[in-house]
Amino acid sequence: MKDAEPKVIRLKDYQVPDFVIDKTHLHVVLHPTRTRVSSDLSVRRNPESKNRETPLILDGQEIDLQSVSIDGRQLDADCYQVESECLILHGLPDECVVSIVGLVSPQTNTSLEGLYKSNRMYCTQCEAEGFRKITYFLDRPDVLSVFTTTIVADKTEYPVLLSNGNLIKSGELDDNTHFVTWHDPFPKPAYLFALVGGDLSVIEEEFVTQSGKPVSLKIFVESKDLDKCDHAMKSLINAMRWDESVYGREYDLDIFMIVAVDDFNMGAMENKGLNIFNTSCVLANPRTTTDTGFQRVEAVVAHEYFHNWSGNRVTCRDWFQLSLKEGFTVFRDAEFSADMGSRTVKRIQDAIVMRTQQYAEDSGPLSHPVQPATFIEISNFYTLTVYEKGAEVVRMIHTLLGPKDFRRGSDLYFEKNDGRAATIDDFVSAMETVSGRNLTQFLNWYHQAGTPILNVSENYDSERHEYRLTFTQSCPDTPEAKSHDKAPYVIPVTMGLIGSEGVLPIHSVIGAQNIQRLSKTNVVLELTDAQQTVVFENIEQKPIPSLLRGYSAPVKLEFDYGKDDLLSLMTQDEDGFNRWDACQQLAVNIIKEIEAALKNDVDPIVDNRLSKALEELVSDQSLDPAMVGLMLALPTENYLAGLEDQVDIDLIHRARKIVKNHLAFSLKETFAKRYESLPSYLEYEANAVQIAVRSLKNICLSYLVDTGDAKWIDEANRQFNDAVNMTDQLAALSCLVHSKEQEAKVLSESALESFYQQWSQEALVVNQWFSVQAMIPSEDSLIRVQKLMQHSAFNINNRNRR
Ligand code: BES
Ligand code: ZN
Repeated sequence: MKDAEPKVIRLKDYQVPDFVIDKTHLHVVLHPTRTRVSSDLSVRRNPESKNRETPLILDGQEIDLQSVSIDGRQLDADCYQVESECLILHGLPDECVVSIVGLVSPQTNTSLEGLYKSNRMYCTQCEAEGFRKITYFLDRPDVLSVFTTTIVADKTEYPVLLSNGNLIKSGELDDNTHFVTWHDPFPKPAYLFALVGGDLSVIEEEFVTQSGKPVSLKIFVESKDLDKCDHAMKSLINAMRWDESVYGREYDLDIFMIVAVDDFNMGAMENKGLNIFNTSCVLANPRTTTDTGFQRVEAVVAHEYFHNWSGNRVTCRDWFQLSLKEGFTVFRDAEFSADMGSRTVKRIQDAIVMRTQQYAEDSGPLSHPVQPATFIEISNFYTLTVYEKGAEVVRMIHTLLGPKDFRRGSDLYFEKNDGRAATIDDFVSAMETVSGRNLTQFLNWYHQAGTPILNVSENYDSERHEYRLTFTQSCPDTPEAKSHDKAPYVIPVTMGLIGSEGVLPIHSVIGAQNIQRLSKTNVVLELTDAQQTVVFENIEQKPIPSLLRGYSAPVKLEFDYGKDDLLSLMTQDEDGFNRWDACQQLAVNIIKEIEAALKNDVDPIVDNRLSKALEELVSDQSLDPAMVGLMLALPTENYLAGLEDQVDIDLIHRARKIVKNHLAFSLKETFAKRYESLPSYLEYEANAVQIAVRSLKNICLSYLVDTGDAKWIDEANRQFNDAVNMTDQLAALSCLVHSKEQEAKVLSESALESFYQQWSQEALVVNQWFSVQAMIPSEDSLIRVQKLMQHSAFNINNRNRR
């Protein structure tokens, strides 16, 4: 802890800054332990601040201050005050240039914040509060400044010198050094500043924006990784096109750069015009990268690019608004990925993260609202709640308003707040303006923590042909509020009804605040009350409700579905997400039955309705193989644990295993046929079709190996040896490593060895090698992990290996 007493920062205490910094000139002479940072800050009293007498208090940490001048006149040391985390200047004129010289030591900076070294490269990370480790500054997101940055370094060791904006000048200096000057015309907060110096190779493309402006795109990596940049470049171009066509957002500088570094705290960072990436989120090559890896690169490249508007052009007023940029941008990147690949698959993947990880966060001791009211350390608030739940909240606005009004709202938000530091309320208010709606109650999603529970009960009146659904919502206690003090949420419930012959037309619905018809068979009900009943008229038979289609709200749904209801939904619903969800539910119910049997010492008998239904799905060549693959994946132990109050993880593990084996044996022939009939692509492409085929194929293989049949163990070994892409190679390796059979154990030992030999030079692949082994569930797993940590390739200081 830095301070003796951690200070609580409160949203309600927000005050505009007393000073603004219109222009910032930086001059940085790179040196491992004595980098000299000189800054000229054009400072002015903020006309919007009421405080006319306050001193200028600049943030700064771990800086060896050399001198301070005001309008060119150096101050005596007794004219300013240096504290451990700030520099205080009294009695400044209302407008002046403050010049500061300080020394910093990138070599010894291991915090991955501020200016530091990653291998032989200098780089920076300034979000959230890292800029204050580079120079004294008003390091808060509502102080926007126009930056001009000159970097000086040795020409041979650091031929590439980068910063934000456009390159305006470069040249040679004495002693084999050179300089480069960058100018970023867009005012930005210091957290978006970046600087890089190194010996880097580059791939380049030109992109022409929709209005005809050429933009030079560059990706910088170590020369050995040049063959792994194409996918990131392709993803960037797709993202730029997508933001133009879906949001009307164009890129604004002459150049857009991405730099890949080994040592990086996060996935990537959206610094203006100069994104800095963890190598794991840029590099991709079929031989070394799995399909999941390819998709991650595409998503992260897009995410950081999208921040150029949602985060940079319009930035955050303070860190309580973090979800304004992160939630919105995660929503944008999710929609992009959905458009690039399979929409339903992407939606399922995101719902799994919400339900297993975000719900756990939301019900634990660290539960907090999407917009917290207080924080002590902002770096602890980059959470699944701010990101993932924040994205779901934006998605609900999209659902409630519909795509047209949502787009008009986003246009208005960007137009009104361009070049400004905005708030979540500014975003919501733009959505209100264009739609004419009042979203006050909707804001509860931002201010209240906890996962709402939506209980639904049904009643069918066969005489009046009326079907009633009663919705009751509640939200459990969380640290910031008791359940009974929480106000009801606005919950969009996208839904339809299923009859014996499939989906039913919905003629008339009454009882919800607002009812949107998406089609004859699909409506959005807008729930607003703690309890309300909705009536569907002219329903000839008792239907099965398909609720929360597409995971339309991040709530826990309680509805008492029978197994046959779930089977009907699974095979007949028009919504792909709910078909998958019904399959998961059915699997959950069946696993729970086995848990009960095990607990009561009764012979566990697996209900065969699940395997019957899956058999049909696996054989049906007309279905999307990716969907089938997802349906075959049983709910994870984590997910199952999250459904119970009293968790017996061993019981869950045993019950799930029994169901898994049951599926493996009863569908063995079906899996074998499908495995053999699916193509193996020789020309790898990371497109939706190929990815889907590989995922289904490999899940079939894992069930087949689970049967313990020597033929399939051999097949896994063959696939491992013959694989020409990492997805198939790693999937086969993981089958072998996870098998309990003696033969597989022997094969997996040598496979692990040869895999390591083959890829020991590829750091990112060695990471995968570690994680395959670390995930083997067995009694001695702790010992195995400890042994792996002794391995010469293991480096705990690299965040990618933790
Ligand atoms: N702005 C963040 C990166 C960041 C967060 C830097 C916190 C410093 C502190 C960036 O836009 C981000 O959110 N990156 C994500 C990936 C993204 C696809 C969600 C990451 O790094 O994990
Ligand atoms: Zn982000």
